[in-house]
Amino acid sequence: MFSSVQMTAVRGRFLDIQSLVSQSEHIPEQIRYLEDGVLISEDGKIKWLGTWQDAQSHLPQDIQIQHYPEQLIVPGFIDTHIHYPQTEMVGAYGEQLLSWLNTYTFPTEIQFQDKVYASKIAEFFVQELLKNGTTTALVFCTVHPESVDALFEAAERIQMRLIAGKVLMDRHAPDALCDTAQSAYDDSKALIEKWHGKGRALYAITPRFAPTSTPEQLEKAGQLKQEYPDVYVHTHLSENKDEIAWVKSLYPEQKGYLDVYHHYGLTGQRSVFAHCVHLEDEEWECMHQTHSAIAFCPTSNLFLGSGLFPLKKTWDKQVKVGLGTDIGGGTSFSLLQTVNEAYKIQQLQGDKLSAYEAFYHATLGGAKALDLDQKLGNFNLGKEADFVVLDLKATELQALRQSRSKSLDDALFALFTMGDDRNIEATYVYGQCAYQKSK
Ligand code: GUN
Ligand code: ZN
Repeated sequence: MFSSVQMTAVRGRFLDIQSLVSQSEHIPEQIRYLEDGVLISEDGKIKWLGTWQDAQSHLPQDIQIQHYPEQLIVPGFIDTHIHYPQTEMVGAYGEQLLSWLNTYTFPTEIQFQDKVYASKIAEFFVQELLKNGTTTALVFCTVHPESVDALFEAAERIQMRLIAGKVLMDRHAPDALCDTAQSAYDDSKALIEKWHGKGRALYAITPRFAPTSTPEQLEKAGQLKQEYPDVYVHTHLSENKDEIAWVKSLYPEQKGYLDVYHHYGLTGQRSVFAHCVHLEDEEWECMHQTHSAIAFCPTSNLFLGSGLFPLKKTWDKQVKVGLGTDIGGGTSFSLLQTVNEAYKIQQLQGDKLSAYEAFYHATLGGAKALDLDQKLGNFNLGKEADFVVLDLKATELQALRQSRSKSLDDALFALFTMGDDRNIEATYVYGQCAYQKSK
C-alpha cells in the first residue's frame, strides 16, 4: 500500500512551558524560548523542535518552510469550559445565573433540536475557536443528541481535538429541553459508542448541574461513568450563592453541593467542574483527593455577578485548574481576554497572576486539567502539533506598548492585558494551518 507522510515545518520564535510546580514569578528554568526555532511535524505530531541552525540536517530537502519572523509561536490555547449553543447569546443583559438560564439560555438551546440549525452554529463556533487561537475545548452541547453530532462533525472536518457531550437534564427546565433518566443514559451511551476515541473526539457525560437532574438521573450518569471509565464528566459546581442554596434544599441528605456529584461517582481524574467560586474547605479537600479539576471562568463570573474565584487556593490545595471562557455566560472566546479578567479577579483579592502562570493555565495547565498533558500543552516531541502564531503588535497602541517591553514576561503580560482575536495571526491544528488571519 502507498502511504504518504504529511510533514510541515514552521520557523519563528517559539515559547512553551515545561512544567509549573509553584506560583513563583521566577520560573525561567521551566520556560523554553527559541529566538529562531523550527518545529517539524509529521502526521499531526511534533517530530522535531530546535534552533534554525540545528534544523538543517532534519529538514527534508523539498519541504516548504512557513516563516513567521516577527511573531511568537505558542502551544494552542485550551478552553476547559464553553457552551457552543450559547454562541449567539453572548451579552444577555441584566440577570444572574438562575434567571439568566430561564430568560435567555433555555429558549436559545431549544433551537438545537434542529440538526441543520445546530450544524450552522457548530461550524461558526469551531471557526471562532480557531480565530481565537483555541485548539482544544471541553464543550457543552444541548440535551439533543443531534447537537453533539453537529459539533463533532464540524471538528472532525479539521481534525480538531474536542471533548463534548449531550446535556442531561430531566427537571426544572422547559419540557422541550428535558430528557428522562433512562433516555439520557441511552442517548449518551449511543453517543459514546459513536464518538469517544473516533479520530480526536472524546466524550463527556454532561449533567447540566445538580438542580436540573433528579437523583435517578445522576445515578444513571454514575452508572455510565462506571461502564466507560475513560470518558469525561463535565458539569457546573458552586457558581452562584442562590444556586448553592437550591442544591442544598434539593439534596438535603448530602453534605454539600460537591458531595452530590461525589455520591453518584461523578468525581475523578477526568471530571471537570466549571466555576467552583464558593467551595467550602471540605469540598477543596474532596477535589484534591479525587483528582478532579476546576474550570475557572473569569469573564463569566464577573458578567453574571457570581463572585471572585480564589485561584491561589488551587496551588495551596493542589487542585488542577484550567481556564474556561464559558460562552455565553462569559463574554469572549479569547483566552487572552480571559486571562486579562483572571488577573483583575486576583487583584481584587490581593493576589497576583504572573504572565508565566497565566500562560501555563492557558496551555499545559489546561491540558493537565483535561488529563491530556501526555498529548497537548507544550512542544515536547510526540505531542500533537496544535499551535498558535501570535502577533504581539496587532494595534498601534499594542505596538507602542510592546516597543517599551522590558522582558519576555513583560511582553507576554501586555499581550494578555490588551490582546484578543486581532492578535491571532494563524492557528495550526494537527500540523496543518486551519486559520490564517486575513490581511
Ligand atoms: N449552570 C447551569 N447551566 C449553566 C450554564 O449554561 N451556564 C453557566 N454559566 N452556569 C450554568
Ligand atoms: Zn457553563
